[in-house]
Amino acid sequence: MQPHFPAARLRRLRASDTLRDLVQETTVTLNDLIYPIFVEEELDDYAPVESMPGIRRIPERKLDGAIKEIARAGIRSVMLFGVSHHKDDTGSDTLRSDGLMARMIKRTKDAAPELLTISDTCFCEYTSHGHCGVIHNDGVHNDHTIENLGQQAVVAAKAGVDMIAPSAMMDGQVAAIRSALDRGGFPDVPIMAYSSKFASAFYGPFRAAAGCDLKGDRKAYQMNPLNAREALRESLLDEAEGADILMVKPALPYLDVLSQIRQRSLLPLAAYQVSGEYAMIKFAAAAGAIDEHRVVRETLGAMKRAGADLILTYFAMDFARQG
Ligand code: PBG
Repeated sequence: MQPHFPAARLRRLRASDTLRDLVQETTVTLNDLIYPIFVEEELDDYAPVESMPGIRRIPERKLDGAIKEIARAGIRSVMLFGVSHHKDDTGSDTLRSDGLMARMIKRTKDAAPELLTISDTCFCEYTSHGHCGVIHNDGVHNDHTIENLGQQAVVAAKAGVDMIAPSAMMDGQVAAIRSALDRGGFPDVPIMAYSSKFASAFYGPFRAAAGCDLKGDRKAYQMNPLNAREALRESLLDEAEGADILMVKPALPYLDVLSQIRQRSLLPLAAYQVSGEYAMIKFAAAAGAIDEHRVVRETLGAMKRAGADLILTYFAMDFARQG
């Protein structure tokens, strides 16, 4: 039994910065952060993303310089998203060793070999219809798509990627990718599974940033935002299929899901603070309603407190610069 007032006075440990820092339970450092970036082919100059203040599409031809700057700032991991000018029905550009995805990986590893390079393994940025796989009679065909995802992962691995992050939300995708990587001679390339990925309205700014014109929605493959038990099933299935890291996406509106997965899995757990979460903070701060610096640290800290070990965030660059 713990004593209560007046013996217990919790304010004793809140009296100074030193005491507060001493008993602080959670910390966020650059070691925990992954910076997602957008790389566009056939683009001459940096292109600002209107809905994500501070974020710009990087022209492929300037990728070397951009990567060196990111590494110099102290960022240790990046997630690559391609903005394609070669879209088709199946996203076949990602299956080519000279396609945008493979080129981005090679250039990133050449520019900063020590920077951990993660590839988003999906098709939506490379398909003309904007869906995450192959369409058969109106819907995305699960089993055909996971075969293609396996091929895409092998192309990424051959280009030198350090980690694969499947985000298509197809059933069996982790197992299909693991077996393709193993057969292809890449048993040591880890998989960070977007295991609990919700059909969220918070992805709006990303679709503009990545140039995916989605017709319709993704409700037939991404999860219903109102389901938490199902998120546990998704996560435990991905673990059983061989995922090395699990992920919850978006992050802040899903802290309950993060914390429940934390209690049921021993795998490292990632949270993805998505484009809409980023935009809300940026626009509210620009309007003078909140203190951006403090709010960013509070949200990242909340994700770690809820159980995240690592966080994907567009604030990584600001964080690196400001400490
Ligand atoms: C799909 C993908 C998406 C995001 C990351 N990977 C978009 C989607 O599922 O519609 C969203 C990220 C964000 O909003 O920041 N490849």
